Amino acid sequence: PRTAPRISRYLTSADLAESLARDVRQGLDHTPKSIPPKYFYDARGSELFEEITELEEYYPTRTEESILATYAAEITKLADADTLVELGSGSSTKTRLLLDGMREIGRLARYIPVDVSESALRGAIESLHVDYPGMAMHGVIADFERHLELLPQEGTRLVAFLGGTIGNLAPAQRARFLTALRSGLRPQERLLLGTDLVKDPGRLVRAYDDASGVTAEFNRNVLRVVNHALHADFDPEAFEHVALWNAEQEWIEMRLRSSRAQRVRVADLDLNVTFEVGEELRTEISAKFREERVREELRAAGLSLEAWWTDPAGDFALSLSAP
Ligand code: AVJ
Repeated sequence: PRTAPRISRYLTSADLAESLARDVRQGLDHTPKSIPPKYFYDARGSELFEEITELEEYYPTRTEESILATYAAEITKLADADTLVELGSGSSTKTRLLLDGMREIGRLARYIPVDVSESALRGAIESLHVDYPGMAMHGVIADFERHLELLPQEGTRLVAFLGGTIGNLAPAQRARFLTALRSGLRPQERLLLGTDLVKDPGRLVRAYDDASGVTAEFNRNVLRVVNHALHADFDPEAFEHVALWNAEQEWIEMRLRSSRAQRVRVADLDLNVTFEVGEELRTEISAKFREERVREELRAAGLSLEAWWTDPAGDFALSLSAP
């Protein structure tokens, strides 16, 4: 008989609604206006992101997967863990390469996917259950910026944070996050971090402004999330998708540019917001790294870089670091 998947919830939907309310009020009150990227991922947003990962222009997912396909055995041997914790696990597709590596060295005991999306978590656990019957799973619904100290402690852990998602955090946020993560690791535990790398700005911009408009839809979807959650009346079609390369900060920025002067009502916050024609709402940064910056940010958080793997073109990197 199949046992029900074990899922712990540290992030309730009330929590999520509360933090969205706080972040939207703050972000719309400031100039320039902004909404943090973590709110992209409702069910529709998660689907759109999966679609993005299949776009010709969006190289990070398939590149990271190719690095994992080449080096998973080496990575898992070096990490020598029996427990894989994955932050922002989403559909857990790339994860299988790491789980296979752990299984081959006879170390695979458990997988702990951590995500804000319960539907993604349940789907991932269900599909992994079939292919990894002996492996224990414990899903955790959590915000990886807030609930790191609550993560399950069983086993010797390899903590994976893939996809380049760390690039969504601003430098000070990254420093806080890495420091908190490091303080929860035991000496023999390791961090596997995926980082997108600095490259030709033309390619970067195309990856975030694809010809078929999927990323534009993904970007505008955050307005639908705010509409539903806070009874707002954003007209997503009145905002134009913008992706630009900030050469000084070495990050991609996504914005939504108001195509006319307009007023938006956010009923639950009793807030009226006006946009001038051409005014931009910032929705995401996606930082791109160089090896030196990764090494330095890890070091500043008390982590030492032990190994660095890239694809032949040097588009994306995985790094293993130790506390
Ligand atoms: C899921 C955060 C890695 O920053 O590349 C994709 C999200 N945004 N296209 C990224 C995203 C626009 C993605 N991450």
